[in-house]
Amino acid sequence: MSIGAVVLAAGQGTRMRSALPKVVHPLAGRPMVGWVLDALTGAGAARTVVVIGHAADVVRDALPAGVDVAVQEEQLGTGHATRVGLGALAADCDVVIVACGDTPLLPAALVARMVEEHRAAGDRAATMLTAVVPDAAAYGRVVRGPGDTVARVVEARDASPAELAIREFNAALYVFDRARLETALAGLGSHNAQGEIYLTDALEALDGPVVAVTIDDPEPATGVNDRIDLAACEAALQRRLRDEMMIAGVTMPDPQAVYLSAGATAGPDTVLWPGTHLRGDTVIGEGCSIGPDVVMTDTVVGDRCTVVSAHLVSSTLADDVSVGPFAYLRPGADLRPGAKAGTYVEIKKSVIGAGAKVPHLSYIGDADIGEGTNIGAGNITANYDGFRKHRTRIGARVKTGSDCVFVAPVTVGDDAMTGAGSIVTDDVPDGALGIARARQSVIEGFTAKATARAREAASEGGGDSR
Ligand code: UD1
Ligand code: CA
Repeated sequence: MSIGAVVLAAGQGTRMRSALPKVVHPLAGRPMVGWVLDALTGAGAARTVVVIGHAADVVRDALPAGVDVAVQEEQLGTGHATRVGLGALAADCDVVIVACGDTPLLPAALVARMVEEHRAAGDRAATMLTAVVPDAAAYGRVVRGPGDTVARVVEARDASPAELAIREFNAALYVFDRARLETALAGLGSHNAQGEIYLTDALEALDGPVVAVTIDDPEPATGVNDRIDLAACEAALQRRLRDEMMIAGVTMPDPQAVYLSAGATAGPDTVLWPGTHLRGDTVIGEGCSIGPDVVMTDTVVGDRCTVVSAHLVSSTLADDVSVGPFAYLRPGADLRPGAKAGTYVEIKKSVIGAGAKVPHLSYIGDADIGEGTNIGAGNITANYDGFRKHRTRIGARVKTGSDCVFVAPVTVGDDAMTGAGSIVTDDVPDGALGIARARQSVIEGFTAKATARAREAASEGGGDSR
C-alpha cells in the first residue's frame, strides 16, 4: 500500500494568451508545476505521474528528474486526463492524490492532512478540498450531500442560477481510493457545456462517501487561469519565501521590495536592502549587507560581504568581499577573501586574489590576479585577439598604474609595478617596473606663440570671427 499522485497538466491554458504552456510559466524562478510536485512529494507521494499533452516536450523538459509522464494526445477533459495518468501509475499505489498543475500555492502540509484524514476514515471513496468565497466565479460549485459529504460538483458553465449562488468551490485537489476511482472514471460521459469528460463527474459516480476538507482562507487553492492569477500567485510565493528567510534570521527593512527564487538562501544577520533580487541557486552567508539594487543569479557569497548596486551572474565571493556600487560580475568571477570590485568594474572568468582590489573603471576578463594586488583606475585586460581568448596573469602585491592595458597572453610578476598609461605587451618580471608609453615632450612658450599666430590670422580679415 502506497500513495501515488497524478498531476493534470495537459491543457494549453488559453486564457494565459501565451506561447508557453501554462504550467511551465515560472513562479519565483521555477515552473508552476514544480511547486505542485513539491507539495505532493512533501505529502508523501511515492510516485507521481504528470499528464502532459499540449506542448508536451516543453512541459517534459521543465519537470524534475524522477517524475513519470503520461501523454494525453487529445485534451478531452480532466476526467479523461486522470484516466491517462492512472494508466501510467505504479500498480501498488492504492491511494491516489489528483492535483492540477495550475494550483501552485498548495502547501504540502495541507495535502498531507487530507491524505491522513482520508486513510483514518477508512471507508471513504474520496476526500476533496473546498473553500468558501463570496463569489466562486468560474470555479466548480460544491453541492453538499448529507452530513459532511459532497453530493456532486457542478461546473460554473453547467450550473443553474441556484447552483451558481453556491459559495463553496472545488479546489481541484482530491485523495481517492484508486480502485473505486477507476471504476467511476470508466463509466463517465461528456454531456456538458464543454463536451469534456469531467473528473468532477466521477465524484457523483463513486461507490462510497466523498467528504470535503474545507479551508477558511482560499489562497492555497488558487488556480492560475490568466496572468492576473499568475501575479497573485507570484506575490503569495514571494511572501512565503521572504517570511521563511526572515524567520531564519535575515533582515529585510522593506520586505516587499525583495525578490527571491525558490532556491535562494541567506544566512542569519544578513540584511537584504530594497531592490535585491536573488535568483537561481544563489547562496548568501551570514552578516552580509546586500543591496540596495542588486541582482544576483546562481551566485555564492561568503560571510560579511557588502554588495551595492551590482549585477552578479554565476560568481563566487569568499568572506569579507566588497562589490559595487555599479559593478557587473559575470560567470566565473571568483573573488577571494577580502577582495574588492569597486565602481564601474566588470569581471569575467577571473580570480581576484585575497585582499586584492579592482576599485575603479576596469574590465578584468580571463585573468588571475594575485593576493594583495591593487589594480589602478581604468585598467583593461585585452583578452581577445579577434580570434581567441587569452589569459592575463598578474602576481601578488602588484601595483598597476592607472589606465593600463594588458595585452594577453601576458604575465606580470609578484611585487611588480606598471606605469600609468602603459600598454603592457611583454612580461614584467618579479619586482620590476613595466612602463610602455611614449615619452612626454615639452614645447616651451607654446601658448604665447599660438595666440600670436591666431591674432595675425584675424587681422588679415579671415571671415570667421570666433
Ligand atoms: C477545474 C475543475 C473545477 C475546479 C477548478 C479549480 C473540472 C471539470 N473542473 O476547472 O471544478 O473548481 O479546476 O481550479 O475538473 N487538463 C488536462 N487535460 C484535459 C483538461 C485539463 O490535463 O483534457 C488539466 C489542465 O492542464 C489544468 C487542469 O487539468 O492543469 C485543470 O483544467 P482546467 O481546464 O483549468 O479546469 P478548470 O476549468 O479550472
Ligand atoms: Ca484551472
